[in-house]
Amino acid sequence: MKIVDSSVLKEWYDSEYSACNNGALFGELREEFKQFLSTLPDGPGDALELGCGDGRNLTALARKGYSLSGVDMVDSTVQSRQLNPWLKDLNFQQADILTYEPLREGYDVLVCSEVLHFFNKDELQTVMAKIIGAVKPGGYIFLDLLSDLSRYFQASGEPFIWDKEAGLSVLDSEGLFDAWLGDFDIYASRHFFDKQSWPLSDSANLPIAPYTWQGTYVSVCARKRK
Ligand SMILES: C[S@@+](CC[C@H](N)C(=O)[O-])C[C@H]1O[C@@H](n2cnc3c(N)ncnc32)[C@H](O)[C@@H]1O
Repeated sequence: MKIVDSSVLKEWYDSEYSACNNGALFGELREEFKQFLSTLPDGPGDALELGCGDGRNLTALARKGYSLSGVDMVDSTVQSRQLNPWLKDLNFQQADILTYEPLREGYDVLVCSEVLHFFNKDELQTVMAKIIGAVKPGGYIFLDLLSDLSRYFQASGEPFIWDKEAGLSVLDSEGLFDAWLGDFDIYASRHFFDKQSWPLSDSANLPIAPYTWQGTYVSVCARKRK
């Protein structure tokens, strides 16, 4: 099993977002997120997405009337905020979630989608404490954890892991959400198997060879008790 230095992820994502000319690298919303949206009251309100990527989830929240804040370790909305009018008032900050300090009880809606699998177990505890603290009483949260994850390089078939990941099973992830979300009512929980080949863009400047991953997203929608 090869162990790859996860510091290349920054360069990898930077190249992907820069090479994506339509500003929509990730395409359509996931079904779980659509379900979450359907449970949210309409804005006004404040929404924060940590690891917001091209802003596809934030766009949907803007359509519901929310004011948007987004954080990502790379300038991930570099194309989308030019091309997508729903993101024109986005308060975007380029920052690492590990060091970023969100406003305490500052948000009606908090999203962290397709990101938490990049943290090791200790980092997850740090990040989750911030996430939980940033949600207003009565506010809503959407989280997922990519579980039972495997990856391999397409050319060689060699499997690899990042040097920094928690390696969680579906059961581990379910248990962690239950433990973390004691102050919340979890009102939806879903599993979604996915398999994808990367890169998504046709960037020629990627720091690692093309690979395929597969795993199961364990997602939760929850509301913080008042
Ligand atoms: C697979 S994308 C998901 C984007 C978006 N959340 C969505 O669901 O469409 C993962 C994003 O997380 C960002 N990311 C990963 N680790 C991060 C960290 N430590 N701090 C901030 N952003 C991070 C990456 O740069 C990338 O934009």
